[in-house]
Amino acid sequence: MGNRSFLTLPRVAWWAAIALIGNVLLVTLLNYRDYLPPNFRADFLLGREPYFWLGYHWAFYTHIFAGPLSLALGPLLVSERFRRWAPAVHRRLGKLQLLNVIGLVVPSGLVMACWSAGGWPAGVALGALGLSTLGCAWWGWRAAVGRRFAQHRRWMWRLFVLLGSAVALRALGGLTEVLQIESAAVSVANIWISWLLPLGICEIVLRRVPRSQIAGLSSKSAPVH
Ligand code: HEM
Repeated sequence: MGNRSFLTLPRVAWWAAIALIGNVLLVTLLNYRDYLPPNFRADFLLGREPYFWLGYHWAFYTHIFAGPLSLALGPLLVSERFRRWAPAVHRRLGKLQLLNVIGLVVPSGLVMACWSAGGWPAGVALGALGLSTLGCAWWGWRAAVGRRFAQHRRWMWRLFVLLGSAVALRALGGLTEVLQIESAAVSVANIWISWLLPLGICEIVLRRVPRSQIAGLSSKSAPVH
């Protein structure tokens, strides 16, 4: 980040986001104890035994490894400083991220959405998140291949924000627990809020950043990609 950054997120907000991401990654890793082998008394797996080994396990295990990887790669890939410091690594990790998101995170998420604990209303919210994520990853990829780097970064910021919904959702879950307002409707509302609100904020910020301020991205400048 810094003056030359595409999106000048205030440092505090940036490091707070990194801390939250780190926290979710850590909690997810700790939860592996309940997932390997599956403990059907654990929160997330409760009630899933009847269908777990009937195909759901493929999506589940793919998702719990691919999801955290995509979340961990996100901050590195949107970091202007990192891209300038190691452009070749940025390119390789970027390809890995797109293959991972398009090939694993979204398909497994969509399959799991069909068996969402919150029923079809939650499934629809998660399905819409999955399709939006897929769209951002795909168009971001096409823009990079077409060397339209300003567009590429915009799509990648949207993708980063959508992957961050995993963090926002857990934070919202914690908040509703503290406020003691948990219910099925609130859980579904949380899913929508976890990605639509950050995406809306991201969109406002993206629109406020003039194209001319997008560092090194005009077609005349040499892209560092
Ligand atoms: C943005 C695309 C994503 C979609 C569409 C998606 C979808 C889903 C769905 C449908 C479930 C099951 C929810 C239920 O049955 O109620 C789930 C669970 C899960 N997701 Fe994702 N997800 C996405 C991204 C991520 C990311 C980036 C992570 C990284 C941490 C992640 C980690 C997990 C984990 C660990 C679970 C298992 C439940 C738990 O332990 O909390 N997902 N996801």
